[in-house]
Amino acid sequence: MGLVAILMILACLVNLGVSECENGGTFRTQNRRKIKTDNHPASYPREPCTWTLEVSQGSVVLLTFDTLDIWPWTSRGCTGDSVTIYDGDSQGTKLGEFCGAVVPPALLSTGNNMTVVMEVGNYEAGFTGFSATFERAQPGWDSGCNDLSSWTQSKRGAIASMFYGAENYVNDAYCRWTITVVTGKSIRLTFPRNFEVETALDCSGADNLMVSANGMEIGTYCGSSKANTGPSDILSCFHEMTVEFTTDSVGTLPGFIAEFFETGT
Ligand SMILES: *[C@@H]1O[C@H](CO)[C@@H](O)[C@H](O)[C@H]1NC(C)=O
Repeated sequence: MGLVAILMILACLVNLGVSECENGGTFRTQNRRKIKTDNHPASYPREPCTWTLEVSQGSVVLLTFDTLDIWPWTSRGCTGDSVTIYDGDSQGTKLGEFCGAVVPPALLSTGNNMTVVMEVGNYEAGFTGFSATFERAQPGWDSGCNDLSSWTQSKRGAIASMFYGAENYVNDAYCRWTITVVTGKSIRLTFPRNFEVETALDCSGADNLMVSANGMEIGTYCGSSKANTGPSDILSCFHEMTVEFTTDSVGTLPGFIAEFFETGT
């Protein structure tokens, strides 16, 4: 056998060793486009996968998850498979890391591209992965926490402190979200995971989450619960809800994720 033939066989063997997912790759759009894990909605294979998402210069990427079903989240975080979203390329800041079945917040990049990396462990699973939509957005859509600030007429969605699941939130931050549903309906906000925000007497003067509706404060929340839950459900009794997250200049913690649902009056 000639040297060239041997080299070709070696090259093939090397290629076989690198498992490539089918649905990953580089995706560009001027409007909106879908991405999803291999086999979705059947279970994803034991292969890592990367999606690079690009929009035109001057715009930013808005990534909205439609479904998420990945190796279960535990109160210690993602201990098996996970999906991590990076600002820019895979060396960029981690915007968040997710697993389980709580749909992530709608994340925004700071530049015109974002990278999504699915990592898998060695165990057999049976989870369906995710499907998501990315679109071209304006930089001003950011809540201050790298996710969408304004939700209008959505029946459900999620908001979270910056870098949720990946890093602690930052000091001296201010994030603001407004959620609006059709007149006559109201909004229920729930905390399905650990709630880890600095503890302070009556929650003022330190890091806190303030929820209001129709210009009136419903409550201000702080403190830590690692028991897979946060504050009790909050009901707006109005078709609009405003959520503000403020941090002071010392001390950071993992933060929070909250889901909201349109509900009857
Ligand atoms: C991706 O975004 C970064 C800024 O976040 C920018 O420096 C880089 O040039 C962009 N890459 C492409 C391919 O547009």
